This record gives sequence, C-alpha cells and structure tokens, in this order.
Amino acid sequence: MLEDLQVWVNGHLIPWSQATVHMMSHSFSRGSAMFDVFGIHRGKEGPVAFRMDKHLDRFYRSVELLEMRTNYTRDELKQAVAKVVKANKIGRGVVRITGYYSEQTIVTLVMDQDLDIAIFAIPETEDFKLNHAEPIRVCISKWRKLHPATVPVEAKACANYLNGMLSRKDAAERGFDLAIMLTTDGYVAEGAIESIFIVKDGVVKTPPLGNIVQSITRLSIIEATPSIGIQVREEQIVPQELLDADEIFTCHTGTKVTPVKQIEDRILRDVPGPVTSKIFRLMEDIINFRNKDFEHWFEPL
Ligand SMILES: Cc1ncc(COP(=O)(O)O)c(C=O)c1O
Repeated sequence: MLEDLQVWVNGHLIPWSQATVHMMSHSFSRGSAMFDVFGIHRGKEGPVAFRMDKHLDRFYRSVELLEMRTNYTRDELKQAVAKVVKANKIGRGVVRITGYYSEQTIVTLVMDQDLDIAIFAIPETEDFKLNHAEPIRVCISKWRKLHPATVPVEAKACANYLNGMLSRKDAAERGFDLAIMLTTDGYVAEGAIESIFIVKDGVVKTPPLGNIVQSITRLSIIEATPSIGIQVREEQIVPQELLDADEIFTCHTGTKVTPVKQIEDRILRDVPGPVTSKIFRLMEDIINFRNKDFEHWFEPL
C-alpha cells in the first residue's frame, strides 16, 4: 500500500499522506517541477541502484537547464535515497527524485529560491510491474515533440510531460499502446516516456540527442551492445524508416526493452525479432547480475 510508505522531503522522512503541496504552490499552479526516476534492484547484500550517478548527472543537468537551484549535494541525495529505500524496505522498485517549489504564489512567475526536494521509493507490485516485456502496438502521434528552442526538452520538467500525455491519449483513442512523436522537423523523436530503436537489415538505429530526453537506458543499450557484436547508430530517422523497419523496440528504466509488434497498420512478424531478442537478453542478464562486465552499473545503497 502506497499509504504505508515514507517519503524523504527536505531532509526528513514523513508519511506518504503528508507529502503534499498547496494548490497555489508555484509548482502546481505554474508547472515548475522537475524529476528523475531510476530502478532499485535486489543485490546480494541489499538494495542497489541502477546507474545512480548517471541519473544524478541528468537530475543536476535538468536543474541547470531549467535555471533552477538546489543546495543538496550529490552525496546528500545519495544518502537520502539510501535512507528512503531502506525505510520502505524496497527490494525491486523505483526511486523518483522530485524538485519543486512548494511556496504559494498568485502572480510570481520566476522563483528565486532553492528547490524543495522530495524522494519517493516505490516497490514493484502486481499493479506496478517492472520489466514486463509484452510486445506493444505503436502509432505515429499527431502531436509533435516540443521544439528545443521553446523549452529545454532534455530536462525532465514535469510540464514537458503534457506533450507525452497528449500523445498517449492520441494512441489510446486510436487503439494503440503508445504513440511515437516526431520532431517539429519531421524526424522520429520518442514516446511519452520511452526512447525508440529500429532495426533494418541488421543495422540498429536510434534518434540522436538534441530533441529527446537523455535516456539512461538508451545510453546503456548503446554502451552495452558492442559486447555482443552490435553497434547502435545515433542517426536521424525519417517516419518511413519506422514504418518499414524489420524490428522496433522501445526502452525506459522500468521495462528496459519492449518489442513492438505493430506500427500503424503494419503487423511485424515473429516478434521479438532476432536483434531485439539479443538486446533484450543482454539487458535482462545485466539487471539480473548474470553479466559481470556491467556489475559496476549498480551502486549499493
Ligand atoms: C520522454 C522520455 N524519453 C525517454 C525516457 C527513458 O529514459 P530512462 O531510460 O532514463 O528511463 C524517459 C523516461 O524518463 C522519458 O520521460
């Protein structure tokens, strides 16, 4: 039960039900919150975090890109993560670090203060399953990805997720699981909360950084696949390549690799395909500690 969990807020553990802000807080009324999410796994000697340093790099980069401030150091945040994970006895689960302004405001547009920080540690449950890899049906969204000249799209700003929400709604209304957004220039970008990869004639491609969130799972796949003889190219992908791909998969920290079984009205045969299967197995081996080469990606808490 979520109500049984404790949340770390500005240095203190408090009950889940008390982790609230006023509706006139700047973050609620102006949409000025940001966050990062990463996986917790059951290590041999207790919980371990998946690539926490990379996630904290991205967290601090989001703070910087959004021209926000935090007084908390990396070590303080790591200690806070360890504390809340242990307090909630998390085995497999996720941590979400949220930066926000709790101060109430009627007209103020720009906050000149440090972010409040809340850290949630949420266990996997029957309703909240991690690493389920059921093949999904995807379409191309009628909504384009936000343009990087309007807001920093690489920052995990909560407000940017309205874009993703609309794309998911579009997908659901058309009977798909998720929709892939194109950039305003018409190239393939990403899903609401997932990066995208295609395979054509054995070549694996994913869109380059610049218009998308710097996914740590995407990075991990790019870094790990050479160990099984697969190179991933970071290249612009036009929609026709997506529609014609031999294999397509998505990734994010919760599911690692999710195969796609349908793109628009085209059904992909024998899903997951051979390349997706290899990458899926590689990532499963890594997160289940069967691949010693990537053990350093896990940090004990
Ligand atoms: C827009 C977007 N793209 C991609 C990702 C995947 O990122 P990660 O692999 O770090 O979970 C996320 C998840 O946070 C996301 O929100």
